[in-house]
Amino acid sequence: MFQYRDGRLCIDGLALDDIASQYGTPCYVYSRADIEHAWRSYDRAFGARAHRIHYAVKANANLAVLDTLARLGSGFDIVSGGELARVLAARGKPGAIVFSGVGKTVVEMEAALAADIGVFNIESPAELVRLDGVAGRVGRRARIAVRVNPDVDAHTHPYISTGLDENKFGVPMADAPDLYRVAAGLPNIEVTGVACHIGSQLTSLAPFADAMARVMVLVERLAAAGIELAHVDAGGGLGVRYHDETLPSIEDYVATLCRAIPSRYEICIEPGRSLVATAGALLTTVEYLKVTPKRHFAIVDAAMNDLIRPALYEAWHEVLPLREAGDEVPEQRFDLVGPVCESADFLANDRPLRLVPGARLAIMGAGAYGHVMASNYNARPRPPEIMVDAAGAHLVRARESIAALYSGETLLPDASI
Ligand code: LLP
Repeated sequence: MFQYRDGRLCIDGLALDDIASQYGTPCYVYSRADIEHAWRSYDRAFGARAHRIHYAVKANANLAVLDTLARLGSGFDIVSGGELARVLAARGKPGAIVFSGVGKTVVEMEAALAADIGVFNIESPAELVRLDGVAGRVGRRARIAVRVNPDVDAHTHPYISTGLDENKFGVPMADAPDLYRVAAGLPNIEVTGVACHIGSQLTSLAPFADAMARVMVLVERLAAAGIELAHVDAGGGLGVRYHDETLPSIEDYVATLCRAIPSRYEICIEPGRSLVATAGALLTTVEYLKVTPKRHFAIVDAAMNDLIRPALYEAWHEVLPLREAGDEVPEQRFDLVGPVCESADFLANDRPLRLVPGARLAIMGAGAYGHVMASNYNARPRPPEIMVDAAGAHLVRARESIAALYSGETLLPDASI
């Protein structure tokens, strides 16, 4: 939990200023307790209902985050061979892995079958045929759910909306019965469930209820045709409070799913953001204050390559000083920008702050889709990651070295012209 104590912003009792001094900025800091709290809130809300929580690894794939969740008994939702390897490295149980995504390669399917993952969420007829072939070749049976596209508007940013019929995700509802019939006849495929995911950062429950109602019509139709499913995967998507959003609680979200899905089906969910976003912050230092006729810029040492959400989605992240400044520093409205050579390189705009050069700031809500989306643009090493728990602060990913950025590259041979 982030909280001021004696004018210093703390994470679970440790001053972030001290963490910044020890590890340097920019750096990401996560609260293990906050992640655990959110996961347990989901788990508790289901009560006696059969359920499985598959954490969407894409939100934050650090091994310590995966380890934290694996120790709680979480499953994992992956979208690549790389995420599979990470989950296995963090000792996640293969049987509790769901493999989502529209572009699974043969190599990824082989790795997932070799690990004996729980279920593949199939997103197209061609993928189903490929999986059957690969499974046959390696002598396994692949458990599958079809990810259907329920065509509901999630009312979120268009880049993170996935459940409309114009999106590339899922199988159109109208095509799903036929695909299930095909799947049921394939020798190396075992049909176990249905999946859907309609978008991310959803701030109301109506689209979830709507999507689940449509999915259940399909499930009942399949049952009538003799195809019995065991689980319904509702995807992820519950939003978090970055600014002034009003949000449904985890309890109300889970209650909505439990109402929409009859109790004979196991409910699976794939939350990402809502488990980790508010558990993390990106710490940064003000390098320069620059006043132009139009704007006040605070040029900080973090940039769009470290946290791309503001540039990509115009996302709003709260900015908090690690030490509350005194009244002697006037409050002004600042644009927080990084050193990257792009006008989209901003972390926040027009924020009232009391700043001096050297001041340190926390960009809040950076635990999800932060470090995982970081790049090396402008030859900038990616920041370290620190996890705080009851035993203190742990460096769970070192700062990337500049040498590492080009260690896989070579000059041309001497003889080349
Ligand atoms: N399941 C599937 C199939 C997904 O595609 C996603 C997210 C999730 C689960 C997890 O959704 P969540 O609970 O985190 O909303 N980079 C964007 C978010 C992209 C989400 C992509 N899919 C952002 O920074 O807002």
